[in-house]
Amino acid sequence: MRYLVTGGAGFIGSHIVEALVARGDEVVVLDDFSTGKRENLAGVLSRIELIEGSICDLATVQHACRGVDVVLHQAALTSVPRSVENPLETHAVNVDGTLNVLLAARQAKVRRVVVASSAAVYGQSPELPKTESMRPEPLSPYGVTKYVAELYAQVFGRAYGLENVSLRYFNVFGPRQDARSPYSGVLSKFCTALLAGEPPTIYGDGTQSRDFVYVENVVQANLLACQAPDVSGLTFNIGTGRRVSLQEVLDSLTHIAGTAVSPKHLPPRAGDILHSQADISRAQHYLGYRPQVSFEEGLRRTWAWYRQHSAAD
Ligand code: UD1
Repeated sequence: MRYLVTGGAGFIGSHIVEALVARGDEVVVLDDFSTGKRENLAGVLSRIELIEGSICDLATVQHACRGVDVVLHQAALTSVPRSVENPLETHAVNVDGTLNVLLAARQAKVRRVVVASSAAVYGQSPELPKTESMRPEPLSPYGVTKYVAELYAQVFGRAYGLENVSLRYFNVFGPRQDARSPYSGVLSKFCTALLAGEPPTIYGDGTQSRDFVYVENVVQANLLACQAPDVSGLTFNIGTGRRVSLQEVLDSLTHIAGTAVSPKHLPPRAGDILHSQADISRAQHYLGYRPQVSFEEGLRRTWAWYRQHSAAD
């Protein structure tokens, strides 16, 4: 099988690429290296076809889709606060870019597109855990763009027969998550702060909670979503089913790291949701998804990676 991974040099995309290459599949990566990095693909560069270009350019996506069986669409601007500051930019990449991917996939007679969506689509509805049948109420432009991407994928199924599956990622963490941007995911920020001997920042009182899912579990979900029968048009929560508060995250991390720190508290961020937790029963039922790596084990592996990485810098 030939796969196209958009955003394949990014944090999640590069882990998916590695898994596909490891099982002997043909892989094309499309990445504009705006947030992705060549070094994320260091172990597989000689075994993939790498196209440097943006999903915002239709001709480039059309070129990347040639002969492809399944597209794993991971390219996106992933930051909630960045979307609050600049909604147009996030819209251009996440909505217009996704439309290009769907158009090119349809033209190339791709069998299925798996779209990376987000728990951010649920937004402010207070019910927990989140089930896929709940009405999306995004709190940020980012959440809107991910919901629109799902809707476009579904419409391409209805209007043109393009098989599609959307995966609503909860808070993915693990090696290679970029910590350098002010918009980076909280676990990468906490790890790098601890390694630098600086106090980690908590926006708000630290009682907000997330369903943190280790990246390897998300890879598993993607591979299953490429093949599962009778799932076209469906959305699936991809988390663990458990939520952990930010203060608990920091406590677990300092325990693993063997250090004690007092966080710096700043006001809550605009657009942030308070709590997030997935009901993963739909993914379990239709995809056979079973998270293999626990939060604690994922945290240990992530900490080890950042420590090794900072030592190498
Ligand atoms: C994250 C993802 C988003 C995904 C969503 C799914 C990132 C950058 N964003 O958004 O792509 O769709 O999960 O649920 O991975 N925080 C701190 N200190 C920090 C950084 C963050 O306290 O240094 C707080 C934030 O205010 C927030 C929580 O940690 O309350 C999580 O923030 P973040 O890691 O940015 O993720 P989400 O906004 O949940």
